[in-house]
Amino acid sequence: MKMYTTFVFLLFITFFGQNWGEQVRYDGFKVYRLTPKSQEAVENLRTLESTNSGYDFWTDVRGVGHPVDIMVPPHYKYRFNDVISSGGFDARVYVPDVQKLIDNETPRKSTRQLEWTEYHDLEEIYQFLRDLVKQYPDIVTLISAGRTYEGRDILGVKVSYSPANENRTAFIESNIHAREWITSAVATWTLNELLTSNEPNVRQVAESHDWYFVPVFNPDGFVYTKTTNRMWRKTRTPYFLCNGVDPNRNWGYHFNDGGSSGDPCSDTYRGPSAFSETSTRTISEFITTIAPKLQAYISLHSYSQMFLLPYGFSSAHLDNYDQLYEVGIKAAASLAQRNGTEYTVGNIVEIMYVASGGSMDWVKGTFGTPITYTYELRDKGTYGFILPPDQILPCAEETFDSLITIFEEFDKLLP
Ligand SMILES: *[C@@H]1O[C@H](CO)[C@@H](O)[C@H](O)[C@H]1NC(C)=O
Ligand SMILES: *[C@@H]1O[C@H](CO)[C@@H](O)[C@H](O)[C@H]1NC(C)=O
Ligand SMILES: [Zn+2]
Repeated sequence: MKMYTTFVFLLFITFFGQNWGEQVRYDGFKVYRLTPKSQEAVENLRTLESTNSGYDFWTDVRGVGHPVDIMVPPHYKYRFNDVISSGGFDARVYVPDVQKLIDNETPRKSTRQLEWTEYHDLEEIYQFLRDLVKQYPDIVTLISAGRTYEGRDILGVKVSYSPANENRTAFIESNIHAREWITSAVATWTLNELLTSNEPNVRQVAESHDWYFVPVFNPDGFVYTKTTNRMWRKTRTPYFLCNGVDPNRNWGYHFNDGGSSGDPCSDTYRGPSAFSETSTRTISEFITTIAPKLQAYISLHSYSQMFLLPYGFSSAHLDNYDQLYEVGIKAAASLAQRNGTEYTVGNIVEIMYVASGGSMDWVKGTFGTPITYTYELRDKGTYGFILPPDQILPCAEETFDSLITIFEEFDKLLP
């Protein structure tokens, strides 16, 4: 009986240990940058990525000459050395100790108010939204864009200066991938700037559109990055042995049309069916209610410094690609002006990799929304997903410059 009790107790620890507030640590984890020199090396990396080998691919395998960032656990060091010494790669250590970056990222805790000098948790972000509604009762309204598997509300705000703007509605999405904290920080700063800036050109753009901000698209995953595992990407829905679906492979347009995995343990698991996730399903229902008014859908990711244009399933220049590309180049130029930060502009497949089932593809393909961009924000891998808090403001400012340019340019092109 005692043994049985011990067994049950151990099971309990195994299954529920993570809920005891224990944080996954990344001591000694390194990020290597591998640049494949041949097609064979590219294929080998793809195999490694798809076999759930214990490596965490921070960026995707694109092709010969394109660097790939891979996080390697310390006890995999020798195994990974074999990968490197198999030849075919230029390799170097890019981040020597991931836990050090995480420790530097989260010095607790000066203020619960958003000042964009640190990263905040879900409740602080939601409180910021509620405070804006109190502060600007005639302009800002709280919205619920859906809910999650674990029962959380997916909160956002609508900003509207005039009912006449209803057919020029812009929707800003962020933090659909849980570990990309910079994205919700940039989105909340942008929201604040649209409300508070005194720059005439900003006022012009802000007050001639309706805006929807939903800063945390994946609250379950986001909370999990705060409580348990900083490097979590997916939702938290349990599927057999592993949890979570990649919420940006789960949307119902060209679902499962390349660049997603059928393995629940993979970081790009697409889910058993399109919109299997409560969050993507309920958010998509919300977006559908405003879709006829939608002029712009902007999705924020990190990292790599890219402006991505639809679609993720095809490299063909579909819909208004030329228009998006031209404005994208101007937006990249205005982004670079402040700080010299360089962005690459292009179709998802062309400049990144095949990735089907994304939210932007679904919006573009379903509703024909004219302005559709996905940002991959700072940086280019020095810190990767763990961008230091002192880069929140510079990153937000330059991103904002580019957003203003996008809307100024499209205001000349669209009715
Ligand atoms: C927005 O577009 C709809 C459909 O074309 C139209 O009925 C409505 O009057 C427009 N709203 C404004 C404020 O122009
Ligand atoms: C970016 O701008 C900030 C001030 O806004 C400045 O301190 C920093 O040196 C700049 N970085 C680069 C790379 O230009
Ligand atoms: Zn992402």
